[in-house]
Amino acid sequence: MFLEKLTLINFKNIAQETFNFSSRINCFVGDNGAGKTNILDAIHYLSLCKSSFPMTDGQCLKHSQDFFVIEGNYRSDRARLEHIFCGYKKQVGKTLKRNSKEYERLSEHIGLLPLVIISPTDSFLISDAADERRRYINAFLSQLDREYLSSILKYNHILSERNKLLKMEATNSDVLQIYDEQLCMYGEIVYRKRAELIEKLAPIVARFYSFLSDDKDDVGLSYKSQLHDKAMKELLFEARLKDSINQHTTCGIHRDDLKMSIGGHPIRKYGSQGQQKSFLIALKLAQYIIVANSLEEKPILLLDDLFDKLDISRVERLIKLVSSSDFSQVFITDCNKLRLENILEQNKTEYSMWFIGDGVIIK
Ligand SMILES: Nc1ncnc2c1ncn2[C@@H]1O[C@H](COP(=O)(O)OP(=O)(O)OP(=O)(O)O)[C@@H](O)[C@H]1O
Ligand SMILES: [Mg+2]
Repeated sequence: MFLEKLTLINFKNIAQETFNFSSRINCFVGDNGAGKTNILDAIHYLSLCKSSFPMTDGQCLKHSQDFFVIEGNYRSDRARLEHIFCGYKKQVGKTLKRNSKEYERLSEHIGLLPLVIISPTDSFLISDAADERRRYINAFLSQLDREYLSSILKYNHILSERNKLLKMEATNSDVLQIYDEQLCMYGEIVYRKRAELIEKLAPIVARFYSFLSDDKDDVGLSYKSQLHDKAMKELLFEARLKDSINQHTTCGIHRDDLKMSIGGHPIRKYGSQGQQKSFLIALKLAQYIIVANSLEEKPILLLDDLFDKLDISRVERLIKLVSSSDFSQVFITDCNKLRLENILEQNKTEYSMWFIGDGVIIK
């Protein structure tokens, strides 16, 4: 997938700008607060209908304006053209159009313009609680697999109904039985698809990590689930008494986690900041490869704040990787023009560069 032209009006600190992009590497350089990340966020909006930050549409509207527009002209890997328009107006809301036709539901758009973002905010995937890692896996699989998306939505709905039931003074055991059967059905689908994904993902993560670190350390990624040892049905049956005492469902795929390790130890505790960052890059690049293979369309790759926590040799290796033919269009931000230019020149990579200052293209 390749974004040929991007037009922004009143998006965050950008009043009005148009960019014509290269199909390979595009760089935005400029000082802190210039608006480099905002441009990446606009590209994220066009793919996923929302900011990559926890910001509402209204918060992305340029201060004291009442509408924003993000428009992109795309060319798919099979040369299909797509014109995507995303508009937001105060008191009216958001509109998304594909080739001038408005979508009935935003979810229909997800997956059309695959995108993977690597950003300093990814660190929450290591530092935060398991629900963040489940959210990541859910978003990842939902882009690829409609059955997964509908199963996880149904599972979560039934789970919340079951928890409501457990909070009642007298739990109706017939209703509980029905909920349990449905939880088992959807829970087993989610479990199987998560297990398949992580089995494919883990060796690719290890390979990318080993390339980025020049074989310095070994990393591991594995799937932690109560369903490895027992079927969901058995787990629910055995936990009935515990669940009714605790008044919520204590077992199931809503307790799953990802285990990430370095040298056999948990990366959260023992990984340095650069090692953790390298692991997250390897994970996102592995996600890129899996999405590309499964949709037969290479995603757009956003690399925000390229040098964040990495030493120069890891940045060089990362640039080498994303310049290879496994990757398609890449957007990079950095605040230092010279160090970025040096690396790209050494690597003999073709690139385009924009200087951003206070929400405008300086040159
Ligand atoms: N809704 C908005 N309206 C106007 N300005 C906004 C809005 N949201 C964010 N900004 C401004 O955008 C700027 C931040 O832009 P951005 O995060 O893109 O900077 P950056 O160039 O990536 O900087 P850094 O190098 O520090 O990462 C800030 O000055 C912020 O005040
Ligand atoms: Mg930034």
